[in-house]
Amino acid sequence: MTTNKIAVIAGDGIGKEVVPAAIECLERIAQLHAISLEFTHFDWGSDYYGEHGRMMPLDGLEQLAQHDAIFLGAVGSPEVPDAESLWGLLIPIRREFQQYINLRPVKTLDGVKSPLANKEPIDILIVRENNEGEYSEVGGRAYRGLPHETAVQETIFTRLGVSRAAHYAASLASSRKGHLTSATKSNGIIHTMPFWDEVVEETTRLYPDVTLTSELVDALAAHLVLKPWTFDVIVASNLLGDILSDLGSSVTGSIGVAPSANLNPEGDFPSLFEPVHGSAPDIAGKGLANPVGQIWSGAMMLQHLGHPAAAEHLELAFESVLREGLGTRDVGGPSSTSEFTAAVLAAIDVLEALGKAESG
Ligand code: NAD
Ligand code: IPM
Ligand code: MN
Repeated sequence: MTTNKIAVIAGDGIGKEVVPAAIECLERIAQLHAISLEFTHFDWGSDYYGEHGRMMPLDGLEQLAQHDAIFLGAVGSPEVPDAESLWGLLIPIRREFQQYINLRPVKTLDGVKSPLANKEPIDILIVRENNEGEYSEVGGRAYRGLPHETAVQETIFTRLGVSRAAHYAASLASSRKGHLTSATKSNGIIHTMPFWDEVVEETTRLYPDVTLTSELVDALAAHLVLKPWTFDVIVASNLLGDILSDLGSSVTGSIGVAPSANLNPEGDFPSLFEPVHGSAPDIAGKGLANPVGQIWSGAMMLQHLGHPAAAEHLELAFESVLREGLGTRDVGGPSSTSEFTAAVLAAIDVLEALGKAESG
């Protein structure tokens, strides 16, 4: 049996609650599917910063590189400026490990109340470019505190960066309904966006079964609220994809359910799996956090590691608990984080018994 080596960084805030919950579920699934998962826990994050003045050790990335995948909770604390915490841990991992795809499914879940009045099933994959764009390191602040204080940040798109995101998205669309929507803002204001459009169009032409619609992001955001069920795959730049993924998850009911996979598709480096949400300091430590985004990210990790049956088993388990109305408070249910997790563990066993009964 091959061992899958997983680096775990629970991180900050509710990351410390939802990561242990998801690991309990992953361990149970691994046992039932005879998969060997070896978890190594790293106490990096804002508490570590308080002690050591950095978010992770100097050789942190080298330590992570020894693993098959990284399972992360959230990074960010009111005690540490976000610029320090994020550029000190999450962003270097995404960049150094060339995790240039941030794949964020947006899907209706039975039992999760959507704020939309008119509901049809939603099933969207957001492909967010994850290494460049608006999140560039080029820029800075000058003349602090003076009237002419200035802040500048360049947006950087490269042909390689845009085309590989577009390839990934078009290929996904081609395996689904064949609709690709590209989020743009090319109506003469943002100089980089016509380049994004050109490269996305050129790339998508290589996929004759995919229809591309470039949509101005402001209209796309409205469309995502009014008719989300009409989308299939959305490809977006780093910042636009970030915003659209919080919007998308809220349209399905809660940011607490949204998963994500930060992928290095070539497999040269470990990929990272984390929920879309952050450390939620407003509810941290209260047992209120919804662990679905983290558990679902765990299922995406199992899929990535080559265990599709285990991934599906885990997804069916949390879906069945939600369907029974036993979600956490953010989705209108009665459960605490630990009550929900216990229900998922029970559902994993029930599904296993049903599967055995059917096959036996
Ligand atoms: P957030 O996602 O942490 O919280 C936004 C709102 O959603 C809050 O009201 C919160 O209570 C709620 N929420 C989030 N996750 C939930 C869950 N699992 N269950 C129930 N409710 C949930 O965003 P924020 O408040 O803007 O950011 C807090 C910190 O997290 C900041 O430091 C930010 O930079 C960081 N952050 C980190 C990541 C990451 O690690 N990938 C992502 C987003 C934000
Ligand atoms: C996310 C987060 C991060 C991002 C922040 C915390 C840097 O919002 O993972 O969606 O913008 O990528
Ligand atoms: Mn975000």
